[in-house]
Amino acid sequence: MEKIERFLFTQFAERFGHRPQAQVWAPGRINLIGEHTDYNDGFVLPIAIGKRIYAAASIEKGKTMTLCSANIRGEVTFNLSEIEPGGDWGDYPKGVVAELLKREYPLQGLNAFFLSDLPIGAGVSSSAAMEVVTCYLMQRLFGFSLPPEEAAYLCQRAEHSFSGTRCGIMDQFASIMGVKDNALFLDCRTLDYRRIPCQLDDYVLVACDSRVERELAASEYNRRRAECEEGVRVLAENYEGIRALRDANLSQLEAVSALLNEQVSRRCRHVITENERVLKAIQSMEARDWSRLGILMNESHESLRFDYEVSCNQLDFLVETSREIEGVLGARLTGAGFGGSTINLVHMSAVEEFQASVSEEYLKRFEIVPRIFACIASDGAEQDRLRS
Ligand code: GLA
Repeated sequence: MEKIERFLFTQFAERFGHRPQAQVWAPGRINLIGEHTDYNDGFVLPIAIGKRIYAAASIEKGKTMTLCSANIRGEVTFNLSEIEPGGDWGDYPKGVVAELLKREYPLQGLNAFFLSDLPIGAGVSSSAAMEVVTCYLMQRLFGFSLPPEEAAYLCQRAEHSFSGTRCGIMDQFASIMGVKDNALFLDCRTLDYRRIPCQLDDYVLVACDSRVERELAASEYNRRRAECEEGVRVLAENYEGIRALRDANLSQLEAVSALLNEQVSRRCRHVITENERVLKAIQSMEARDWSRLGILMNESHESLRFDYEVSCNQLDFLVETSREIEGVLGARLTGAGFGGSTINLVHMSAVEEFQASVSEEYLKRFEIVPRIFACIASDGAEQDRLRS
């Protein structure tokens, strides 16, 4: 048992007065490239990271679930026969429980304790990790088993219905299916995936959390998704076989541009070019051409900034400051944007300078100390389960 798991065990025992019957964890993710492509049936390239949410639980008589967190104040208690969103962290586990009940999985009351070393709200998918850890906790505790793809879709649906973000499948999939030392090249239409070795010779992936959380992130996210749907509607009227932006190319987009509002056109352009960048990024990784990978990451950020408009001053500043450091090959926002983190491809010898100078400059400019951490491709929740 890792130190953090022992700590969770103790916390649980102190709060509930007995030992937990099950302990599981699920990791966060960062995405190397392929942003806002997942809900357009496109390609993504995430890794599960070594930072996780851990959970311990015991079955209780009756229908009450009591959830505690070592990271967030306030217990969440609810009855299985009446599950409503409460506008707090409990909505993620509640959403999963509600989806499981809809499918008539045999749940009953429980006590659960959550503990996270994954930064919350930092663009590294703490929400997906919370959903996935809940889903695996229920499976362990109540003795049933879901195929991993089904678990990922169930967690995604939980997020749609309980937190209102119409997210794609990337985060939940990566949290479940992540593999140590590999990135996952995922086709979000079919869920076919290929492992791409992610040992980057002398380079490392460093995340930098801006510590900015935008209030309107969910509604802006849903608006982007609706704009993409609008683009698809017009493209599909003019070309056979277009079901999603994944099926369209730039010349088709150009040909219908008079029928689209300019903003929708730019959103579509981002998605089409971003899908191409993912394919090029895979070639670069397989050729161990890290400079090329860095260039693609930079291009991805510019596209997210100007065409998709999901960046913000803080993220742009972090990206620009990072790119000025010798040994940094690429920098971009990762995840939904509107705040959250950047991901940077940094030479090992430049990591210390990166840490010092990005922190200093960011503090000077925004009076915020960013949170900087290395990201190593790690196992997902399901992979761990298969091993144990
Ligand atoms: C969030 C969503 C994902 C994906 C990214 C952007 O993390 O949960 O499904 O859309 O944003 O790539």
